[in-house]
Amino acid sequence: MKKTVLVSGGAGYIGSHTAVELVAAGYNVVIADNLSNSDRSGVEGVRRITGVEVPFVEVDCCDKAAFAKLFEQYAFDSVIHFAAFKAVGESVADPMKYYRNNLLSMMNVVDLMREYGRHNIVFSSSATVYGEADELPVTERTPRKPATSAYGNTKQMCEDILRDAVAAYDGLRGIALRYFNPIGAHPSALIGELPRGVPQNLVPYITQTAAGVRECLSIFGDDYPTEDGSCLRDYIDIVDLAKAHVAAIDRMVTGDGENYEIFNVGTGRAVSVFELVRTFERVNDLSLNYKVAPRRAGDVVAVWADTERANKVLGWRAERSLDETLRSAWAWERYVRKL
Ligand code: UFG
Repeated sequence: MKKTVLVSGGAGYIGSHTAVELVAAGYNVVIADNLSNSDRSGVEGVRRITGVEVPFVEVDCCDKAAFAKLFEQYAFDSVIHFAAFKAVGESVADPMKYYRNNLLSMMNVVDLMREYGRHNIVFSSSATVYGEADELPVTERTPRKPATSAYGNTKQMCEDILRDAVAAYDGLRGIALRYFNPIGAHPSALIGELPRGVPQNLVPYITQTAAGVRECLSIFGDDYPTEDGSCLRDYIDIVDLAKAHVAAIDRMVTGDGENYEIFNVGTGRAVSVFELVRTFERVNDLSLNYKVAPRRAGDVVAVWADTERANKVLGWRAERSLDETLRSAWAWERYVRKL
């Protein structure tokens, strides 16, 4: 019988791509989302791509009683918990909003998994837990640095909640996936990132500038101690990232590995902001309006992944090229804007 996976936050950017890959890998999927930072088009996109009427339940994971109904209705044994707020700046301005939402929903997932006798949890963590790392690339054993935002702190705290819960309660297993910088869109251009308001992240800002929605991209700093003076990141294709979740679920379903595990999900390649912009221009044959602006508060100079553990242990590796990913990002923006 096909196994079922609950995808919380499944209408969002990473969740919707993951739902597609889970269905492609033979899983049944149930999507739960409160649509606070996404909309039904994400679910519709998943259904169109897969040809499967994937069930969608509009629910807030912080509302335990409402969330519990989903556990009564569906016999999933695994959950991938994406549902969370994710804007770094907003979390500094309103930390309690982040602690309440991100921690409570995580605790509800753990509690309900126990109460209903379910087993496997994959948690959406982030490379933000490494901060300004002392060693690069970062491995999963690289010490975490104190978080510089409430958002980053919730990622660390949720990892710890999962680790401690798994250690204490029999039958519970957890995997934390530390994402680097997810970019791009599904090759069908039917799902992608839908930022509300002014994009905070680099690639949506680039595509909106190319589309004429934003006038000019600001490159935050050209005086960092890197080759071209801009920051270095590990940009991971969204479909590759989605497939890492399938590998994590496969691993837990087959009972391999330790009860709590952590994997970096990146490409292992450091790309500068200038290099990303130039690549976007080249592969899409356009020229982008950009200027150099002051550094952005809170940015680390460089972070990229050592992916050996994910490659060897999880049996997963990033496959899509940066060229292909940046073409998909532009195709998605054109689809959204009907260009
Ligand atoms: N940048 C610009 N101009 C922009 C936006 C970004 O130059 O308009 C630069 C940033 O300064 C940085 C790089 O592009 O050097 C990437 O910035 P993003 O905002 O796209 O991504 P971050 O690396 O800051 O943060 C991302 C996620 C976080 C996550 C973090 C993990 O947004 O949620 O990666 O390292 F925590």
